[in-house]
Amino acid sequence: MGTITFIEYDGTEHKVDIEPGQSLMRTAVNNNVPGIDGDCGGECACGTCHVILEGDWIKIAGSANSEELQMLDMTPERAENSRLACQITTSEDMDGMVARMPEFQM
Ligand code: FES
Repeated sequence: MGTITFIEYDGTEHKVDIEPGQSLMRTAVNNNVPGIDGDCGGECACGTCHVILEGDWIKIAGSANSEELQMLDMTPERAENSRLACQITTSEDMDGMVARMPEFQM
């Protein structure tokens, strides 16, 4: 088992255990990480689970598909390494991953 660290916009860190096979959004919600709302339940339809992955973690998490890219286009704080957490399936090779939250979700 490994951990993933979520960092709020103000720098507050939340380290959570990886639940392999679970989405990154659900992992955050299950661990009461503030700033990941997941309003649509993981249907790639609300954009309230926006995260910005640090460093090279985007290579492990993979890039967004076209549906996700359309949602990301509407997020005000989109960055190069932005993903929607509901579209990332966690695995043990994400041990040490850092996901930053934007100041505002959609
Ligand atoms: S939970 Fe709605 S887009 Fe991710």
